[in-house]
Amino acid sequence: MRIDIISVLPELIRSPFEASILKRAQQKGLVEVHLHDLKAFGMGKHRQVDDYSFGGNAGMVLRPEPLFACIEQLQSERAYDAILYTTPDGKRFDQKDANSMSLLENVLIICGHYKGIDQRVRDHFVTHEISIGDYVLSGGELAAAVISDALIRLIPGVLNDETSALTDSFQDGLLAPPVYTRPAEFRGMAVPEILTSGHAQKIETWNHEQALKRTAERRPDLLGEE
Ligand code: ADE
Repeated sequence: MRIDIISVLPELIRSPFEASILKRAQQKGLVEVHLHDLKAFGMGKHRQVDDYSFGGNAGMVLRPEPLFACIEQLQSERAYDAILYTTPDGKRFDQKDANSMSLLENVLIICGHYKGIDQRVRDHFVTHEISIGDYVLSGGELAAAVISDALIRLIPGVLNDETSALTDSFQDGLLAPPVYTRPAEFRGMAVPEILTSGHAQKIETWNHEQALKRTAERRPDLLGEE
């Protein structure tokens, strides 16, 4: 997979891609992440990328010219399977979206900033408008990092233990059950006996029951109950 990210503040999201799992995935050649500074396509001496919105609503909007120039240059080098735009008015991102997008080869993410981007860019290029939750961030960069992380960790070979993404919360529509490690007893608190029993089948049943219990308590909406 290759992810290109267009931003007016690429410095803001360089570090997540230079650490931990995301770094290793790139080193293993499983993913390439390229950050593009929109200011390089800015207009005039001051490399202007934004302007006041027509209609007098407060706030700056990213102008179409730099975005069209940047996106068209990237498109001249490869075809994108999806062009995402991070915005609080987009579709709320979930694990299903992550699963399907993790299969794509070339993904372009445009980070919104200020009051957003000129609507013509959205109309002309964007295939998916995505929100990562019902709150407003100061820019789309952190959302782009969140989305990238969710996609990259699903690429086969990225996680060391291949099964661990399968047992994530949401993969079976349920929250994950509680997990324990050693010691089996700590300050008088014991690990549930079943987990140390060695009965694989019973453990699986217990995990499923716990996942259901947790989901019913915390996220009844996932069970279709509200
Ligand atoms: N940009 C600002 N807020 C956002 C959000 N909640 N999701 C995605 N992009 C955003």
